[in-house]
Amino acid sequence: MNDSITSAEWVNPLRDPRDLRLPRIAGPCSIVIFGVTGDLSRKKLLPAIYDLANRGLLPPSFGLTGFARRDWTEDHFKDFVRENVIAHCRTPFKESTWTQLAAGIRFVQGTFEDKKAFERLSNTVAELDRDRGTRGNHAFYMSVPPRDFPIVARQLADCGLSRSSEGAWRRVIIEKPFGHDLASAKALDHVVSEVFDPSSVFRIDHYLGKETVQNILALRFANAMYEPIWNANYVDHVQITMAEDIGVAGRAGYYDGIGAARDIIQNHLLQLLALTAMEEPVSFAASDLIAEKTKILSAVRLPRDLAAHTARGQYAAGWQGSHEVVGYLEEKGIDPSSTTETYAAIRLDLDTRRWAGVPFYLRTGKRLGKRVTEIAVVFKRAPHLPFESTATRELGKNAIVIRVQPDEGVTMRFGAKVPGGTSMEVRDVSMDFSYGRSFTESSPEAYERLILDVLLGDPPLFPTTKEVDLSWEILDPIEDFWSTLGQPQPYRAGTWGPEEADEMLARDGRHWRMP
Ligand SMILES: NC(=O)c1ccc[n+]([C@@H]2O[C@H](COP(=O)([O-])OP(=O)(O)OC[C@H]3O[C@@H](n4cnc5c(N)ncnc54)[C@H](OP(=O)(O)O)[C@@H]3O)[C@@H](O)[C@H]2O)c1
Repeated sequence: MNDSITSAEWVNPLRDPRDLRLPRIAGPCSIVIFGVTGDLSRKKLLPAIYDLANRGLLPPSFGLTGFARRDWTEDHFKDFVRENVIAHCRTPFKESTWTQLAAGIRFVQGTFEDKKAFERLSNTVAELDRDRGTRGNHAFYMSVPPRDFPIVARQLADCGLSRSSEGAWRRVIIEKPFGHDLASAKALDHVVSEVFDPSSVFRIDHYLGKETVQNILALRFANAMYEPIWNANYVDHVQITMAEDIGVAGRAGYYDGIGAARDIIQNHLLQLLALTAMEEPVSFAASDLIAEKTKILSAVRLPRDLAAHTARGQYAAGWQGSHEVVGYLEEKGIDPSSTTETYAAIRLDLDTRRWAGVPFYLRTGKRLGKRVTEIAVVFKRAPHLPFESTATRELGKNAIVIRVQPDEGVTMRFGAKVPGGTSMEVRDVSMDFSYGRSFTESSPEAYERLILDVLLGDPPLFPTTKEVDLSWEILDPIEDFWSTLGQPQPYRAGTWGPEEADEMLARDGRHWRMP
């Protein structure tokens, strides 16, 4: 039976007729997920696909194929998808959406090494084209350990799935980490680009799919009041923080030997830096946005004295709220003599007219005081304060803080007069914008946005090879330096990192914000 409906014929029942924005609905297509039984797929990818279907953004003919080594029937796999969707979906679970999605679900059993399994996959994809009308348009999601990217890419090439016929597309989605250093990233890119055209490769940095991250661009370029002060004349420094309160939590095998800087700074934090510091793009077309991000990553200058301007740490036992937790070296699956850092802080400077002399401090860590991601643009003090010096004793520096997670929004910190009293006293106050309070619609999950962008072939939110390479060029010398140092400085779980990190900022006459 051919039950294909093109996106042009499809009327989205959920759309509000007053909404004049053009719907971005994917055309006929399918997605194949490798590693479909894994953590990422269960908690993020499958629920995101359901949520997209529920919002009417997938074509009714959509196909979803899971590739896994477990010996499951198609019905068993459908039950697995349903269970995980119910457990993790953002929008309400509806039987009608599920029935439509389930009709396009397929399962292929096999390992990445098994040529026959890829032939079966090729037949399944052809069946979807024939019976569901997916028209040769297929995305392949590699939700697999990084060491397996090359073998899956080669198998796709060997069974002919990486090539599309006239008018159809094939795209590949690759999860981070993209390499371990510049050399391995280039080697991986070489393999992937032999199989897929560079324009068909989508490297996921799920931070870029977050609404607040996109709001950096709205805040900067849709308003008149920020850009005039967004430069070295007014900005003292910028702090970009991604703090986690959890430990290595079941990811020991992945994390040990990688560490905080490779896991977070190389991708998420450098992308946040690029969006915060870049010039206004000519348009929001992918090529214009990418050109500006690339320029800023090329302008990054490392500190000459890495010992003074970088810091690393490793969490020791302590308390996380009311729970006593073990140190990194006592975690299950961690080598007790591991020198992997669970905290990293670095200072970077930008060689541009806009940012000359303004340090960007990046920090990330596990088992810190609280889970928070934010960008704080901290301003210089007013050039003159016409008050008694005692009046401004408690006045800090003005700041604009973009809160990426949780409680997404923007905070402005400035001085205000303390009410009453007989003398003038000025103290810091905050003004808050919170997404949750200002908009009734909840933000889609980052993976919803990114999967839809892949299906639409819309690449601005995906880092290019050039950006990945530049990020490794920034990080590699720091990692080389750290590899000569031995054990990172311990910090107690539940605190804000090692003393080294506080000293690093104190040397510059500054201190870390307490988020
Ligand atoms: N988890 C996250 O939140 C997260 C966040 C960001 C990025 N990532 C990245 O996303 C990717 C997947 O992460 P994950 O946490 O989902 O990993 P995971 O839980 O370890 O899952 C890996 C998947 O790959 C499958 N697999 C491994 N070797 C295979 C083989 N030889 N043949 C067939 N299947 C094989 C596993 O199948 P079995 O079930 O049969 O073992 C499993 O489904 C990784 O690149 C990771 O770095 C994950």
